[in-house]
Amino acid sequence: MSSEAPASIHDRLSRVFAEAIARVSGLDPAAINPQVRPAGDPKFGDYQCNATMSLARQLGRNPRELATQIKAAADPLLAGAAEPLEVAGPGFLNVRLLPDFLSECLARIPPPPTAASDALDRLDLPRVARPQRVVVEYSQPNIAKQMHVGHLRSTIIGDVFARVLGLLGHDVIRQNHIGDWGTQFGMLIRWYREHPLPRFEADADVLESIEADYRAANERFASDEAFAREARAAVAELQGGDTEARRIWEQICAVSLQAIDETYRRLGVLLRPEDVRGESFYNSRLPAVIEDLRAALPARRPGEASGGWSEVRDDQGAVCVFLYQADGSPRFKGPTGEPLPVIIRKSDGGYLYATTDLAALRYRLHELEFRSGRGAERIIYVTDARQKLHFEMFFAVARDAGWIPPGARVDHVTFGSVLGPDRRPLKTRSGATIKLRDLLDEAESRAAALVAARERSGGDATMPSDEGDASRALSADERQQIASRVGVASIKYADLRNDRNADYLFDWDKMVSLQGNTAPYMMYAYARVRSIYRKAAERTDSADPYAPGGPVRITHPAERALALRLLRLGEHVEAVANDLLPHVLCGYLYDLAGDFMKFYESCPVLDAPDAATRLSRLRFCDLTARTLKLGLWLLGIEILERM
Ligand code: ARG
Repeated sequence: MSSEAPASIHDRLSRVFAEAIARVSGLDPAAINPQVRPAGDPKFGDYQCNATMSLARQLGRNPRELATQIKAAADPLLAGAAEPLEVAGPGFLNVRLLPDFLSECLARIPPPPTAASDALDRLDLPRVARPQRVVVEYSQPNIAKQMHVGHLRSTIIGDVFARVLGLLGHDVIRQNHIGDWGTQFGMLIRWYREHPLPRFEADADVLESIEADYRAANERFASDEAFAREARAAVAELQGGDTEARRIWEQICAVSLQAIDETYRRLGVLLRPEDVRGESFYNSRLPAVIEDLRAALPARRPGEASGGWSEVRDDQGAVCVFLYQADGSPRFKGPTGEPLPVIIRKSDGGYLYATTDLAALRYRLHELEFRSGRGAERIIYVTDARQKLHFEMFFAVARDAGWIPPGARVDHVTFGSVLGPDRRPLKTRSGATIKLRDLLDEAESRAAALVAARERSGGDATMPSDEGDASRALSADERQQIASRVGVASIKYADLRNDRNADYLFDWDKMVSLQGNTAPYMMYAYARVRSIYRKAAERTDSADPYAPGGPVRITHPAERALALRLLRLGEHVEAVANDLLPHVLCGYLYDLAGDFMKFYESCPVLDAPDAATRLSRLRFCDLTARTLKLGLWLLGIEILERM
């Protein structure tokens, strides 16, 4: 196994085992899943190939015997990279990589890009062989309503996917499917005909005041018949393109979007105003959705995995799509077992949430222009789990209508709720929904307190000592920047570190803490590594650890563990792209920080026995810092050089 190709060790081992299994079994290597996994326990080595058992069953062979043959075929391919394989238990194949191989792989990672280039330091991560056109739809707040914690989760999680897929080389388009259309605007338009229109003022919560206006308009709607009539008429006026109605709607949207964008800037997410393609954009496409579904359905699609079909039917004036299984039973059922259709047009002619989603899906798959061509090959939607049924249903309709090309992938990525101390969805003490702005303000002030406490105590026990780097006191500006970065990062990281499917407990003390798997811990770890590097480099004549001829040396088990961990970054980034689980990357970075601490405790950098070892260890410091920086960037977290 050569150390040349910039593919992950995992990928390269997978290729080696597929090849070896093919030779032994006569199967096509492309059809073999070699089941290479990181070893569960270091005593079994670094990786293991677990394919033998299922393969033996498939071929009617003895698994241990088969494993021995695979070993014989694989060992020569692994020469120079791993010790001879170990056959263990019923037929596991354990891989122990050679220290020289690990150091060669590390040595191939190029030095960081020069300060002059603002290119992302990719640490030589390979780009995907076949880039895809991917839409990542996330955040999706509603105009005229405050963003709630659910939108915050969608924003934080979706941003990771956009970053990860982009880094891997996919052609990514972010879409912010903002709720900017619907009957509520009739009420608001009517309301603002006699009240001052909202204006954007920095530092004032316009969304909050529009929401208050909307509540007042609702009350008026219920009690004042003339108002209700005019509000309904305003919906028709807006849809018909009436200039005055449109002007009011535009002002509401513009002001709201400005406030939303301000929140995005503060959160440090990639979303930009040009990523907004709200529900209103699809309005003109809705009639065609109805017509085209009528033409496409009913259709039986033999060969469909579901084996079912859909049918468009008028039901009491509404247009509905009913979905059936192959045997004719309903595919979706309501609470009392009645067939549950997707309503695509109401009896009053109005369209629904699902109609817009069908239009958006079709638009993205067939019209949206990417840099590399037209039409998404993958769409990732990030919303809370309560929308699961909605997505399942409109995906099924689109599939039955033949709108999703074969090979295209649509993922609905869901997440659980954020719980308060009472284990119920997070609310303020008075029961109101938490305002995002208040949340961020509190995070910032808690982060400021944390940093101040750390400065007073001069470090803490879980990290290597400062070596005098903290002697220069932080300026007020630096403190402010640290507090805001650490605050936002704490909220993001506390969200991302949990399996997104689970609900999680929102706990200020745990998330803004230097102990445990938290943003402050990770950011501090980064700053510490940098500080160790600076100190050591200052006292080293030839300070460039990447200078030619300066090899990476692995002389201690802690160096070996750190080397292997560093080399596993790509594997974890790929896992996030495939499984869409950001917590896997958090876990990796946390383990990396832990491995570095162990390395630093047992492998002195500054007082290394000789100059070559010192340079090699400096390189370990630099690679660790760069890996932490890139990993945290992928999580939407910006590091600080000093903390
Ligand atoms: N605006 C919606 C809400 O706040 C979320 C939109 C989700 N995306 C979608 N394509 N339906 O609930």
